[in-house]
Amino acid sequence: MGMRGLGYIGLASSDLAPWRAFATDFLGLMPAPAPTPAAAEDGSLFFRMDDRSWRLAVHPAERGGLAYAGWELSDRPALDAAVERARAAGAEIETPSEAERAARGVTELVRIRDPWGFVHELFTGAAYALEVPFVSPAGVSGFLTQGVGMGHMLLTVPDLRQAEAFYVEALGLRVTDRMDMGGGKGAAFLRASPRHHSLAVSDVLPDPNLHHFMIEAKRLDDVGRAWDRVQDLGIPIKMSLGQHANDPAVTFYAETPAGFDVEFGWKGLIVDEASWCVREFGGSGEIWGHRGVAMEAITDARADASERG
Ligand SMILES: [Fe+2]
Repeated sequence: MGMRGLGYIGLASSDLAPWRAFATDFLGLMPAPAPTPAAAEDGSLFFRMDDRSWRLAVHPAERGGLAYAGWELSDRPALDAAVERARAAGAEIETPSEAERAARGVTELVRIRDPWGFVHELFTGAAYALEVPFVSPAGVSGFLTQGVGMGHMLLTVPDLRQAEAFYVEALGLRVTDRMDMGGGKGAAFLRASPRHHSLAVSDVLPDPNLHHFMIEAKRLDDVGRAWDRVQDLGIPIKMSLGQHANDPAVTFYAETPAGFDVEFGWKGLIVDEASWCVREFGGSGEIWGHRGVAMEAITDARADASERG
């Protein structure tokens, strides 16, 4: 099993102008040069979280959402095995052009479009930028990426069972937990590394979309200071500080300039592969906190689903 986690994310946004300040002043990411001059021609922005040349990109698009998720394989044989697995599961495999591969700054790249239109890239051979040490412009002490990938994302899908099956069979992700949200709706939390989940999928909101992506700082005070910054900068807060029941990272959610949310947190659960068993959750899904408009929207959707039976 050579899957190593979520290596990078490409976001799509209809307005790139606010992104540099959002990503640097609030999230504390470091601006990075584009992997190739051509990759920056459309104004796309690249950001670092560690000693990789980039981890997060934002691309211009008509509509905000996920442009692509980059799943990292340990090496070429692992990538080949992953492609075989995806093909056997019925996934469509595309081979990007040389220019597209170079624009990611990786040595090997293939692309899978899932049944909901999300683009997943399988890659190996990421570029490092050790000659320029990572320094967070907002003073974040660092982000947890080593061995666990850059974070996670939550995708909303119309059919949870079908989505879970696809991501397990075609992408090779493993189910960590499931959550019953009432009314026949729920979520599945899938891992690609020891990180509790790199991909969560939920059918509470039926249209396929990126609900949020999450990045994890190395210290609790990094989250506390980001909580101060989100208020000082007047960025809309979507959920207050809190801990989810299954991955009890201390996190809060803010709205990005593209409309979807970002979750900023610390100390997510690390899975011990040798002993882990899938867990099933219900109820509020929260240990404490995470109050706010995003939670209300989910609660309303659950109530609507319950009424419909
Ligand atoms: Fe999350």
